Amino acid sequence: MPSCAICLGELSADAPYHAECIESLFGTSSLPKLVIDLSKLYALAASKMAGKMSISGAQEKVSLTLSSDRRTLDVSATGGRYILKPETSRFSAIPKNEHLTMRLAQMLSIETPPFGLLRQDPGGMPYIIRRFDRLDDGTKLQVEDFCQLAGKRVKDKYEGSAELCVKLLKKYATEPLIEIQKFYRLILFCWWAENGDMHLKNFSLLTTPEGIRRLSPAYDLVCTKLVIPDDTLAMPVGGRDRKLTRGIWVEFADYCGIPDKAAKRLISEQIDSLDPALRLISASFLPESMKNQYEALIRANTAILAS
Ligand SMILES: Nc1ncnc2c1ncn2[C@@H]1O[C@H](COP(=O)(O)OP(=O)(O)OP(=O)(O)O)[C@@H](O)[C@H]1O
Ligand SMILES: [Mg+2]
Ligand SMILES: [Zn+2]
Repeated sequence: MPSCAICLGELSADAPYHAECIESLFGTSSLPKLVIDLSKLYALAASKMAGKMSISGAQEKVSLTLSSDRRTLDVSATGGRYILKPETSRFSAIPKNEHLTMRLAQMLSIETPPFGLLRQDPGGMPYIIRRFDRLDDGTKLQVEDFCQLAGKRVKDKYEGSAELCVKLLKKYATEPLIEIQKFYRLILFCWWAENGDMHLKNFSLLTTPEGIRRLSPAYDLVCTKLVIPDDTLAMPVGGRDRKLTRGIWVEFADYCGIPDKAAKRLISEQIDSLDPALRLISASFLPESMKNQYEALIRANTAILAS
């Protein structure tokens, strides 16, 4: 049974997406056409955007705009509303992995921007996500990643810790307790889903038009263990970047100032998400062998949390 390439839900009609899922991602009921040839994407991106790209990071990606009639998506040097990450030869199935991992986070009520996979022939299935830092009228919202907030250079983005992030939220968020609880949920999820690349630039503070500074919607969530088998956490929690235990998560909740009852609820929610998570993995577009590995990883981490 094919799945919707946006929500991974079952499809009843012979269409690759639910119409309402296309609507939530693009604000229109039929899928806009990507007017670029993915195989030529990099040359195009490099020539059009040399030195102008505002999105940095390790993965190849391009900024896209949706035409005003919402029928086409094109590469743009400035004012892009979407980010597209094509398949890469360096690591296997990263867009499908990111899509599934973001979908798992969403299932746990972690806020994300709208995102999905595009079915492109040829060119595989690139991952697309809407930018959270632009309003519909084009206004740019202020965003600072945790590397900037910590006053560190980009090359030092791995010199963080979960505790440093909590300190930054205490200092800069408008409502620290709420944002720290959201951060706890997110970083617990990242450990559970074996996302070893959550460095300081993968967390950001967003300033809303009302001037409220809060944790941005989540982005760049990937199960890195599927491509780097001995990967460890990018940021230690309780001083550890591997072999975390339920005890460490309980202690870290205490560090965060999360009351015991609330912490136990967050941990239980993560444990209880196992069955629906397994269904999403099975419905995902990952190759079968990666589905099996993903399943084994989250079963093991769920058992650790439950012990
Ligand atoms: N949906 C989004 N809306 C706005 N900005 C975003 C969004 N997704 C990513 N970004 C910004 O773009 C940067 C790069 O994106 P992302 O982290 O997804 O790419 P990456 O190349 O995988 O990064 P890394 O260097 O962590 O591997 C992020 O650090 C963030 O600042
Ligand atoms: Mg990143
Ligand atoms: Zn759907």
